[in-house]
Amino acid sequence: MTVQTILRMGDPRLLQPALPVTAFATGELQALIKDMQDTMQAAGGVGLAAVQIGVGLQVVIFGFESSARYPDADTVPETILINPLITPLDEETEDGWEGCQSVPGLRGLVPRSRHIRYQGCDENGQPIDRTVSGFHARVVQHECDHLQGVLYPMRIRDLSRFGFTDVLFPGLE
Ligand code: NI
Repeated sequence: MTVQTILRMGDPRLLQPALPVTAFATGELQALIKDMQDTMQAAGGVGLAAVQIGVGLQVVIFGFESSARYPDADTVPETILINPLITPLDEETEDGWEGCQSVPGLRGLVPRSRHIRYQGCDENGQPIDRTVSGFHARVVQHECDHLQGVLYPMRIRDLSRFGFTDVLFPGLE
C-alpha cells in the first residue's frame, strides 16, 4: 500500500487514452487499486483514475459518504469501475463545479449529462450496470474522461467560471 504521486496537468501522460484491462482478480490489479485507494484517501478526493498515478489502464475509483470538498453533494457509493462505458440517457445537461487532483487548487463550471447509464466491471470481472443522475453522474463522467485523456478544464465553456477554489468558495480547499 502506497500513496502515489498524482500527475498534474501538463504531464503528457494525462493526455493518453487508457487501455482496457484484460486480466481480472490478479494481484497486480489488486495492488493498483489499493494504491489508488490510498492515494485518493490521502488527497481527500472523491474519485481517481489510474492514469492520474501514471498507469494507462481503464480503471477508476470513486465514491464517498460525505465530502468536505463537496459538502452539498449526495452520497455516491464507493465503486471500483473497470473498462467503463457511459451512455447519456437523454439530451439534458447541467452545469456544476468540478475540481481535480491533477489540477490542484482550482474549480471550474462544467456541463455534464444529467442522466446516464454506466457499465463496466469490478476488479473480479463482475458486471456493473447503473443508471444514475446528478452529482453521481458527474463524478463518473469526470473520472471516465481521464481515461480518454480529457481533463475538466477542456470542457469549460465559459472561462470566466474557472478560478481558485479558495477565492470562489471561501472556506473550501
Ligand atoms: Ni480528475
